[in-house]
Amino acid sequence: METRFNDLSANQDAIRDVLHTMGLIHDNETLLVKPLTGGVSSNILKVSVGEKYFCLKQALPKLKVAKEWHAPLERVFAEIDWMKTVSHIAPDAVPHIKGVDREALCFVMDYLPAEHFANWKSQLLQGVIDVNFAGEMGEVLGKIHQQTANNSELAKVFAYDDNFFSLRLDPYLGETSRVHPKYSVFIQAVLERTQSTKLALVHGDISPKNILRGPTGPVILDAECAWYGDPAFDLAFCLNHFLLKTIAANTCVARQQLMLCFEKLYQRYFNCIRWESIDGFENRVATLLPCLTLARVDGKSPVEYLTEGQAQNVRRISCALLERQFTTLKDITLFWRKESGL
Ligand SMILES: Nc1ncnc2c1ncn2[C@@H]1O[C@H](COP(=O)(O)OP(=O)(O)O)[C@@H](O)[C@H]1O
Ligand SMILES: [Mg+2]
Repeated sequence: METRFNDLSANQDAIRDVLHTMGLIHDNETLLVKPLTGGVSSNILKVSVGEKYFCLKQALPKLKVAKEWHAPLERVFAEIDWMKTVSHIAPDAVPHIKGVDREALCFVMDYLPAEHFANWKSQLLQGVIDVNFAGEMGEVLGKIHQQTANNSELAKVFAYDDNFFSLRLDPYLGETSRVHPKYSVFIQAVLERTQSTKLALVHGDISPKNILRGPTGPVILDAECAWYGDPAFDLAFCLNHFLLKTIAANTCVARQQLMLCFEKLYQRYFNCIRWESIDGFENRVATLLPCLTLARVDGKSPVEYLTEGQAQNVRRISCALLERQFTTLKDITLFWRKESGL
């Protein structure tokens, strides 16, 4: 798609036009625009109009991460479609979309105030670790996958295979296999298997930074990587963050709690699986996981909160896991606990 990119963060009149066309504001209303932090791929703007608050999201042409990669702007449509689909399955688990502007490559959703919607990543890093919430997250994710499984209509709408390759499979798995030639055959096989498994609606970025803790449970943001594919990717991607955070956590209690979150999340998720056998699914999650832990230190989007020494520790345990090729999550957690000194 040929699009001239109009950066809305630098253009208040354009924001006004967008909201006006959506019927969200009247003439002459005063806008107050404030950029929100935390995103790496978009303009996220809080727009206040009198007593009303909106959140406007516009895809940016270039991601703000260390090793550069480009992403097609139309990924914003994948996000809009994912949010709309999930709003019928778990209405409280997504922000409500209030308007879409296809030309400006943006959409407007409810603004979710931080006082009532805490960012889960911030809480986990501060040691606020709620195992029950992790379980709720597992259940919501399992429900979304279960209710979108084997759906040929959705498979057509979300046939974003190229996006998923350039935003997820290549920067994480492809890059890691290039950096670690010793494991490239295994990682490439996992990549190709993931690429060709088409079972359910995948979010593609289920990470605590994209999950808010709302009054009625988890709210999932940031679905730009949505794709009809392998639900094992979402679960492995999310579980990965608990393993990484055990290495960053500075108390034994926090590390134990993070491992309990890991276990609770996948157990509640597993209760939702009806579309395939749990064993086959678990095998894919377990083989993806060490590729992803290694990817978060040596892929194109390394996590920012690990020291060099901690990153080396993640690298060492990930490589040891890749040597062993465990096929159950129980084996992985046992090994991770032992190697991280728990
Ligand atoms: N609807 C919303 N209400 C309030 N804050 C939001 C909303 N959507 C996003 N944010 C904030 O902006 C951050 C970045 O949004 P996200 O959709 O994840 O963008 P990116 O694709 O750039 O990562 C989130 O972590 C959150 O803090
Ligand atoms: Mg995000």
